[in-house]
Amino acid sequence: MISPNITVTLEVNGEKSDVSAMADTPLLLVLRNDLALNGPKYGCGLGECGACTVIIDGMAARSCVFPLSGAVGREIVTLEGLGTRQAPHPVQQAFIDEQAAQCGYCLNGMIMTTKALLDRNPDPSEAEIRNELSGNLCRCGTHIEILRAVLRAARLMTVDRRP
Ligand code: FES
Ligand code: FES
Repeated sequence: MISPNITVTLEVNGEKSDVSAMADTPLLLVLRNDLALNGPKYGCGLGECGACTVIIDGMAARSCVFPLSGAVGREIVTLEGLGTRQAPHPVQQAFIDEQAAQCGYCLNGMIMTTKALLDRNPDPSEAEIRNELSGNLCRCGTHIEILRAVLRAARLMTVDRRP
């Protein structure tokens, strides 16, 4: 059955926008196609790789399998809501400092998942970090650098408690 078209107001990165789409449209498509927020990436489209991760009400969520209708009234944060090129968020700065990327395609998911983790647990153990990121795939194999980046981000965020 085709789901109905709905017009809703989304709150993304602190800004409200009206969008119209079918109720079960993946949030990822709305973010990228309607709101021009291209931080979240399309990887598997099945909720299995983490490339599309955004933060919804403080929790990391896979936007490729999150329906538009479920996003109404929630606080959504995308990569664009973290820092800027001139003033990166500490998590972004840590990934830069540790050169934790090759192709970079997984980085949105790695960074957003890390942000959500450190917001609720500012001092995670290595095992907790590995567990948290275990569902985020990196085909380039930069896992060691990513782990170092998360540990560095935790240190940076104890200094900079930016929301
Ligand atoms: S694109 Fe969403 S989990 Fe892979
Ligand atoms: S850096 Fe290429 S997929 Fe992770």
